[in-house]
Amino acid sequence: MKVSSCVLCHRRDFLRRAVLGAAGFFTTPGAFAEALTATPAMTEGPFYPDQLPLDTDNDLIRINDRITPAMGAITHLHGAVTDLKGDPVSNARVEIWQVDDRGAYIHSRDGGLKGPKRDEHFQGFGRFLTGRDGRYYFRTIKPVPYSGRTPHIHVAVYRAGKRALTTQCFIEGDLRNGRDVLVRRLGDSAKQLMVQFRPLPDSQAGELSAEFNIVLGFTPDDGHGDIGSDAEGHQEVLPTLERDRLTYEKAKRALEEDSE
Ligand SMILES: [Fe+2]
Repeated sequence: MKVSSCVLCHRRDFLRRAVLGAAGFFTTPGAFAEALTATPAMTEGPFYPDQLPLDTDNDLIRINDRITPAMGAITHLHGAVTDLKGDPVSNARVEIWQVDDRGAYIHSRDGGLKGPKRDEHFQGFGRFLTGRDGRYYFRTIKPVPYSGRTPHIHVAVYRAGKRALTTQCFIEGDLRNGRDVLVRRLGDSAKQLMVQFRPLPDSQAGELSAEFNIVLGFTPDDGHGDIGSDAEGHQEVLPTLERDRLTYEKAKRALEEDSE
């Protein structure tokens, strides 16, 4: 999607809190004396998009320049991708996919890209390429349940064009988590996938902030990924990813200037 000033405003507004709030934590690479625990993997499930939406950027609330936003509780999902030492992992491609507010995926075996079952304004899938700080950011909706599953967001992380982690994150404190077969199977390690969905301070529209930090279970030797190629090595996703990163970095710079 084209980056409208409005979207940038949303991001600025959000980043003001998220980036500055986390600054002390993330500007100290390798600050952890002890090794971190790798984020547990979970199944990809059957609904990774078989046909990508027209727009695959990190704003799932609006598809391209459409005026109508998606239904649902707007959530700013963000976090850092680090290695086991706590060092940020740059050039990691983070992907998320989830059901819309009606409980339908964009997968052709579920709601499809369009159709009566779906909120056709929800993008359903998005990508973000981490910068030097290892951080990622999506504007999406708070997940809702669908048959047999507790609310969740699917997350995949790629490094050097290869899938490094496939997992899911959940709403901390949601009573449905305890009845979810996949969550129960994880036992104690499910705690690492629980995310607090907190009201964004000063948000008139009741927006939420959710932080999900991802620890990859290896120590990258060079910190350089294969920028922009997908799992099959295709390079055409680069423009989208590069543009999202520039948007993010521009917003972050503006915030840093504002705060000086
Ligand atoms: Fe799912």
